Amino acid sequence: MRTIFFSSILAMLLFSCAGKTVPSTINPQAFNKLIDGKKVMIYTLKNQKGMEITVTNWGGRIVSWLVPDKRGIMEDVVLGYDSINGYLNAKENYFGAAIGRYGNRIANGEFSIGDIKYKLAQNNGINSLHGGINGFSGKMWEVVQNDIGELSLKLVSPDMDEGYPGELSVSMIYRLTNDNELVIQYEAKCDKPTIINLTNHSYFNLHGAGNGSVLDHLLTLNANFITPTDSTLVPTGEIRAVDNSPFDFRKPTIIGSRINSEDQQIRFGRGYDINYVLNKNPDQNVSLAASVFEPESGRLLEVFTDQPGIQFYTGNFLDGKYPGKKGKTYGYRTGFCLETQHYPNSPNQPKFPSVQLDPDQVYSHTCIYKFSVKS
Ligand code: GLA
Repeated sequence: MRTIFFSSILAMLLFSCAGKTVPSTINPQAFNKLIDGKKVMIYTLKNQKGMEITVTNWGGRIVSWLVPDKRGIMEDVVLGYDSINGYLNAKENYFGAAIGRYGNRIANGEFSIGDIKYKLAQNNGINSLHGGINGFSGKMWEVVQNDIGELSLKLVSPDMDEGYPGELSVSMIYRLTNDNELVIQYEAKCDKPTIINLTNHSYFNLHGAGNGSVLDHLLTLNANFITPTDSTLVPTGEIRAVDNSPFDFRKPTIIGSRINSEDQQIRFGRGYDINYVLNKNPDQNVSLAASVFEPESGRLLEVFTDQPGIQFYTGNFLDGKYPGKKGKTYGYRTGFCLETQHYPNSPNQPKFPSVQLDPDQVYSHTCIYKFSVKS
């Protein structure tokens, strides 16, 4: 009798893991808080394949993302916290966040439009990073759940918000398809000439968040050039070929295989923290930028975008100081980011593709994170 009892428990446990969605570990009650007078909420996206993504309106952040492995076992593959206080207490880490008004760095926190000079908060050494002290990652977005697979998120950034000119109206669509793709569609308009560079800052670990390093993942990155930086991680304006360097990921390459090389750009970033100039097909608007494969789980992440650049970052500032979901810690290089973007510091580099948005233009940016499994 006892054997039958235990074998049925085991069967239920196995069934609950393989293929069927393991209920997300995110408890909406743990996000019960008012920020800027608005209630922090958790929203859940689901599809017919059992994939599940939870999102909070604070910073438009992706909080959890359940993805099957080759055995159908679901794991949460994005770093984050299982309470709003976890996010608020941690040193800023942008986990899962919508980033703006300008993602990545602007040298010395200053730029000009025409002959008007603007001054931003220098919140990352001498530079401005990720939209300033209270960038879009810390704002309360207006969220509408359109259906079980789609959210609309809106934000109005007032004139001179964090030093940026013009009232900017931003809308994002997070759409989870039945092909296990999260399609992020950004649009924005402004009533004055401004600059803009939005992105998403999810940190991925295809073993599962908190399950060790990402250095054993295989990366393929569709780019022949990088924009090398100075020691403060601001691009110098040079466009440098990746040939014969630790930055060449045109063929599938283990992320950790050259990460401790003496290369100056590796040393500046304490690993990979660099913008790539993506190879583009003239007839393709949205094209494959990068793919990451983790052999043990068989999980494959592909990233598609219409943007000219992508920041590849290997979590070199993570220090495991703040326990994440399920009490797991996120130490050095335990998450990687692939942030589709314009190049950092573009407002100060006239040779880089322009990031200026004029009142008669619409900013548009598509990023697709697509998961599948490969044996
Ligand atoms: C981006 C930058 C990194 C780091 C992270 C956030 O990925 O490129 O240098 O600032 O954001 O910590």
